[in-house]
Amino acid sequence: MRIAVLNGANLDMLEHRDPALYGGLSLSELETKIYQWALERQCTARCRQTNHEGEYIDWCHEALEWADGVVVNPGAWAHYSWAIRDALELFSAPVVEVHLSDIAEREEWRRFSVVEDIAAARFIGKGPDGYREALEYIVGATA
Ligand code: DQA
Repeated sequence: MRIAVLNGANLDMLEHRDPALYGGLSLSELETKIYQWALERQCTARCRQTNHEGEYIDWCHEALEWADGVVVNPGAWAHYSWAIRDALELFSAPVVEVHLSDIAEREEWRRFSVVEDIAAARFIGKGPDGYREALEYIVGATA
């Protein structure tokens, strides 16, 4: 089983962002955890991060060709990018939304997600463990 993990805008700066919200981990430390969790569940994760919305959309399209599921943390794009939603709508494989911080408990503008009603599952405010739960969900859903 192959799972695409697509992190969006500013997630490359994780270790510099508020540790109270994001935990202080770097993106590469987070990705190392994700690869390990995937391995333990006999699946392959491919993690990518970009700050460019068009590239993110291209990677969604590419993942359509090979992924058995996709884990998305679009960062702030989650709150307004209808183009990313349109790309994710193309999946028949499960799309799982993750946010490290609890967007429901933060500023008003973070509470809405363009992905929320098309996501098969959402793991919000669980820190890195949200990605583990997302992988577990996809493995369970596609078993
Ligand atoms: C985030 C939450 C978003 O509101 C924010 O813009 C991010 C990170 C999270 O993982 O908690 O960049 O997606």
